[in-house]
This record gives sequence, structure tokens and C-alpha cells, in this order.
Amino acid sequence: MHKRHDADSAAPRAPRPEQPVPSLLLRQCESIIDGELDHLRRVFRALELIETQELYREKYEDFTAYCLARWPRVVEWGFHPTRSYHKGSIMNYPNFPETCQSLLCKYLTPEVFEALKEKTTPNGFTLEQAIRSGVENPDSSIGVYAGDKESYEVFDRLFDPIIREYHGFDKSDRHQSNLNPEDLDAPNPDPEGAYILSTRIRVGRNMDGMPLGPAISKEERDEVEARVVSGLETLDGALRGRYYPLLGMSEAVQAQLIEDHFLFKEGDRFLESAGLNRDWPAGRGIYHNDDKTFLVWVNEEDQLRIISMQKGGDIKEVFTRLVEAINQIETKVPFSYSEHLGYITSCPTNLGTAMRASVHIALPKLSQDMERFREITDRHHLQIRGIHGEHSESEGGVYDVSNRRRLGITEVEAVQDMYNGVVELIEAEKALNA
Ligand code: ARG
Repeated sequence: MHKRHDADSAAPRAPRPEQPVPSLLLRQCESIIDGELDHLRRVFRALELIETQELYREKYEDFTAYCLARWPRVVEWGFHPTRSYHKGSIMNYPNFPETCQSLLCKYLTPEVFEALKEKTTPNGFTLEQAIRSGVENPDSSIGVYAGDKESYEVFDRLFDPIIREYHGFDKSDRHQSNLNPEDLDAPNPDPEGAYILSTRIRVGRNMDGMPLGPAISKEERDEVEARVVSGLETLDGALRGRYYPLLGMSEAVQAQLIEDHFLFKEGDRFLESAGLNRDWPAGRGIYHNDDKTFLVWVNEEDQLRIISMQKGGDIKEVFTRLVEAINQIETKVPFSYSEHLGYITSCPTNLGTAMRASVHIALPKLSQDMERFREITDRHHLQIRGIHGEHSESEGGVYDVSNRRRLGITEVEAVQDMYNGVVELIEAEKALNA
């Protein structure tokens, strides 16, 4: 098994016996800290009172926002409003604002919290780490991440109800995979290209036997990168391309990748709190083929995000290329998979197929009536997003429409959901134009 990983890689080290007499400088530093300890204790106690009794609410909705406004310099020095003053490694029951809608705050009852708070996975991943993103970002929709495959078992009392609500998938259900493009019925719904601007299908994958991003060490992450890149370098034909590591990337390459919308977002606050941005940008990078229709993100939210995309609405062609790539990569990098949960991913929304199949689609008329738009997408289990990624807004009536369910249905069904919904959306838009 893997050694214990600390999210902040600050595990205490044993003193070195060959240096019995501390240097003058060390003693001076220690005496400064000793002299200030009582002040610190009083500061922490005051902060704890402000937070637990919600005194900050006289001024602000949110404790973090309050600390940032009141003591920006202290926050800048590294004080973290919801983390730093917890004594020891076991936190208290988190204080969710009343407005919190996340599945974390819905299902982390004090009872579940008590049952799980001292548990750790074999990789040393704790409940505190699993929920940190949702505690620090009360506007999360989900709010939890897994540090490894075992997290889904060790913290099942929290993950199971979240998985049930998001995917409609029960503890006793089994996931089934079907990556056969022959089974997909998807003739191009928009051959004239009047509505669908582009199609993109991605899957998340993680390497079997490795911790997931929130718990991985720098060495292991680098190893994943090396293994994945050497696998990608063997691809040929239409999938042949090049790997661009983020570390040391030139301005010109960076500008080009941004221009192509290939570069992944840096500094996402949900990933940041989940520990997924540690050691950034080391170990991260992007592979793409010469045609820019096939892309792999390395060590973002998942260790691999395998992406197939192209202009227009030939959804089947995009799916077929994706499957070809998945199959080839899998011969080089074994993927983490479970009979129950399918492909293992760091965010529970991506379990199962780990697939998001989407189109960018122009619906200027239909989107005037969001209720009707939503009625169609809900019926086909689809999600509407803006076109600049998750948590973004629409622009000029163009929307990103994708499958919402990923677990308990096959890949073919996930794409079929999206396809059927898109056909109906186009019909509705056409009717409004007539
Ligand atoms: N953790 C974020 C939230 O709960 C994102 C959840 C789904 N998105 C994702 N990229 N995994 O809102």
C-alpha cells in the first residue's frame, strides 16, 4: 500500500540527532514564537467565538469574506479562516451558512460526522480532506472529493447518499460499461451546421493503484505523468500528437493553447480547497493530436481527461474517435475501476462512465423561455452550462448542453441521452423560427 500522504505535505520530521546544540538563530526564532503563543491562543479563541456563534453575520454573510475584509493582511500571511485554528487534526463539525445548498451540507449530519471524523483510508486520507472543498466553498453544489478508491468505502455513509441523489444509483446497483460505437444511433442532427457549433466528449480516468489527485504525493503525480506520456507517445495515425508540459511552458505555446481553448483553468477554488492544485504546475500538461480533435489533460481534476472534439454535430464520429483513444491508452495505463462504481474519479459526479458528452448549441429563440428549455433538458437528463466551462454564463444564446447522469447507465446511453435531447432542442428552436 501507499505511504501516508499529508494534503499540505508538511508531515513532521524527526529531529536530527547529530545536531544536539541548536543554532543561535533557531533559538531566537523559537523564543519569539514562545513569547507570542499566548497572543495566538487568544486570537484563535476570539476567531472561534466569532465563527461558532456566527457573530460575523452582523457584518457579513460568510466567515471567509468577513476575515478577508477585516484582516486582509493576516489572510495574506497564510492564515486560513476556516482551517488554521482547528486544534489537532480532527476538526469540529463544520459551520455551514444557512443558505448552503450543497449535497455535503445536506448529508453530513452531525451523526454521520461523528461516525466518520476519525476514519482514514489506507493512504491516510481523512474526512476533513474529503469535505474541505465544500466547507470552504459553501456555494458548492456537491462539496466532496475522494482521495482514493477506498474513500468511497471508508466514508460511504457520506458518499452513498450523495451518489444516490446525484445519479439515482443505489448501494446495491452495479455499473455496466458499453463503449461500442456501433450501438449508438446518432446520425448528424444538424448537417447544415445551423445550430450545433461543436461537439465534445470527454471521460475521466485515474491510474489503478495510485491515490487520486486530492491525496497524491508529488512523486506519485510525476510518476503518473511519466507513465501517461510514454503511453501517449506510442499513439499513431489520427491520434498522433505532442505533449506540452505546463512546467516551463513558453509564452508562445501557452498563448496558442489558450487561443485553442485547450488550456485548463488554473486556480479553480473548488479544486484548490480539495488539494488538487498542490505543486502546480508540476506534473500537469496537455497532449493533443495534429488535427486538434483529440486531447488529453494530465493531472487536472483526474489524472487523465481524455477528450475528443470537433466542429459541427457529428456526435458519432466524435464518440468513435474517443473510444479508439481510450482503448489504445488503456493498453499502456491500467485504469482504476470498480464493479459497483465503474471508473473511479475524484469527484463523485463523474463516477461510472466518467463521461460528459456535450454540444455547443445556438438556441437564441428557445433560450428566451428558459422554463421550456429546462423542461426539455430535464426530461433527457441533460445539464445546461455557459460556454466558458463549468460555472460560466451563456453568451449570445449559445449554450453548452451535456448529459447529467454518468453512473448506472452505459457510455452509449449517456451519449444517446444527449443526442435525443439535442434533436428535440433543435426541433423546438426550428418551430420558433417558422
Ligand atoms: N466541487 C464542485 C461543487 O461541488 C464541483 C462539482 C462538480 N464538478 C466537477 N468539476 N467535479 O460545486
